[in-house]
Amino acid sequence: MRAVRLSENRFKTMDEGSKKIRLGVLGSGKGSNFAAIADACAAGSVPAEVALVLSDVEGAGILEKAKARGIEARCLPPGRYRTRLEEAAERAYVEALQAAGVEWVALAGFMRILHRTFLEAFPGRVVNIHPSLLPAFPGLEAWRQALEYGVKVTGVTVHLVDQGVDTGPIVAQEAVRVEDEDTPETLHARIQEVEHRLYPAALADLISGRLEIRGRRVVRRG
Ligand code: GRF
Repeated sequence: MRAVRLSENRFKTMDEGSKKIRLGVLGSGKGSNFAAIADACAAGSVPAEVALVLSDVEGAGILEKAKARGIEARCLPPGRYRTRLEEAAERAYVEALQAAGVEWVALAGFMRILHRTFLEAFPGRVVNIHPSLLPAFPGLEAWRQALEYGVKVTGVTVHLVDQGVDTGPIVAQEAVRVEDEDTPETLHARIQEVEHRLYPAALADLISGRLEIRGRRVVRRG
């Protein structure tokens, strides 16, 4: 099977020039993962800069957190559907990101499924974080699903985005124990602590070109 180097030569890596990779971040919520990514970029541990933050939710915390860091942030209306972007809206998201020179896109709590128009504009370069050990508990409130199912271990997954719901190739995972006393809130809080470490580290690996994809497997380049 041919190994495809993620971040192949059509993408710039840090050793190819001093210009930083421009990252776009999409989110619908409070933006704690965005903050972790932006802070890791600013600290130099992710070789990128956040060029633009987009949200489908007016006044979302992620927009405020971006503006507080001096990062351009906008709400773009999603259109008439609840779980995806309308075709024209998806094009508007792509155009805004391309106009900002974005090469990689990180989804950070973006509550809509992206389709062809978006994924073909950033092939193999859209990344998501999910609050469970996929393929267990895809979809909404995965920490609550895990608690209700009764698993003893759940966790965090960073994956590349394909056209399915939480189905793309897995980049990184880390386990989180479920304690007897856990509520959905306490479990989600511990999962988020892991997210804030795992997501920047996985983005650094991807953007630096340290990983390649073999079929569904994302592995370190030999
Ligand atoms: C995170 O738990 C993430 O895994 C999920 O949505 C949540 C976003 O949280 N996809 P935040 O907005 O980054 O705080």
